[in-house]
Amino acid sequence: MALIDRDSKHLARGDAIIPIEVKSADGVMLKGADGKSYIDFLAGWCVVNAGWGRKEILDVLHKFSEPAYAFPNMLYEGWAELAELLAGIVPVKEGRCLRATGGSEAVEMALQAAIAKTGRHSFVCFDNPYHGHTLAELSLAEMTRRRKYIERNYKYIGARQIPLPFDPLGKKDREAVEASIAALRHELRGGDCAAFIFEPISMNHCAMIPPREFHDAAKEECERSGTMMIADEVACGFGRTGKLFACEHYGLEPDVMTVAKGMSSGYAPIGATIARKELAEAMRPVFYSYSTFGWTPLATRVAIANINLILKEKLWENAEKVGKKMAKRLGEIRDERIASVRAKGLAIGVTLSSDGRSVDTDLCGRVAGSCIERGLLLGSTGYGIMLYPPLIMDEKTAEKGIGIFEEALRSCK
Ligand SMILES: Cc1ncc(COP(=O)(O)O)c(C=O)c1O
Repeated sequence: MALIDRDSKHLARGDAIIPIEVKSADGVMLKGADGKSYIDFLAGWCVVNAGWGRKEILDVLHKFSEPAYAFPNMLYEGWAELAELLAGIVPVKEGRCLRATGGSEAVEMALQAAIAKTGRHSFVCFDNPYHGHTLAELSLAEMTRRRKYIERNYKYIGARQIPLPFDPLGKKDREAVEASIAALRHELRGGDCAAFIFEPISMNHCAMIPPREFHDAAKEECERSGTMMIADEVACGFGRTGKLFACEHYGLEPDVMTVAKGMSSGYAPIGATIARKELAEAMRPVFYSYSTFGWTPLATRVAIANINLILKEKLWENAEKVGKKMAKRLGEIRDERIASVRAKGLAIGVTLSSDGRSVDTDLCGRVAGSCIERGLLLGSTGYGIMLYPPLIMDEKTAEKGIGIFEEALRSCK
């Protein structure tokens, strides 16, 4: 039986299957079971920041010889080491780490920390956010296509959305920023919100890069109303945007930060919530932060090796350098359907529009499909096409990838 048929028989899936079975991966390249090579502009969607087949991380995996499991209530040296490492690099004051298995769990604990600290239960977030798949996170209102279903079924916590501080078509950014700030002010004025949760640079909105003015205003409003700031850096953290954390672009010091994906570059499942000490302490009597598989010894060691590699190689610097070149090259493509190109490091979004008035999501999907057929892996959303390569991307391969993107775009009428 073909793999796709076996897959469909017993696996439940939501999103459409990309029928590629990756058999090997090295650096920024993937190879399928059919022998076809792919340039990787996806990185497992913001996961494989350190790149594929990194010996420094694989060695830790292969040579691991500590006890397989540590009981969460006992001591384990690796936890202290990883928590010290994280607390030392994130812009959260006196950060305390909560051990998570991945991004959804990390965000869930962040929401709980905000509730515990403030005694409030509602949240403000951007329009169409994605912060994970738990019921609380789905209550924040996920992508438009699922919203109707969620509103009917999943209102487990109160959540209010504010409009995005950008125009994917790049025409009305100014108005969008003003409307977004005004909406945030309006939502926070009653002083009943536990937290404003946001991706500082939103990977789920196809590289939405708010201006500093937005984050300055958000900080002011949150401080004024006693609202916690939860910076969800699950996707944009660990170097993707040209700084180690996206908050650094804005001098932002959130009350809570969540990380996962790039924390291990996908070499092991792990995530973390880093909360200001007083939030972490407020959680104690109220919420349980126990997670059986949160920070298993192997995942802990892998995360330490990965983070040290990112720090040693300063991968955010390469992201910044190569991202600039890619954005410039994309800007030179002469095709009037390219409405806007946004880039911060290797967080790059391209929005296509056929009528100049709306995002042509069908075209974005077709172009992404054509890229994949031509040997370039990338993704598309309702806001455009996402180019999120591993942070070790080199200029030559990046140039080749953009060339494929250009061909694919020309081929799609
Ligand atoms: C911003 C953000 N937060 C949270 C999550 C959830 O992470 P996970 O899939 O590891 O549960 C995601 C996943 O894509 C994400 O993009």
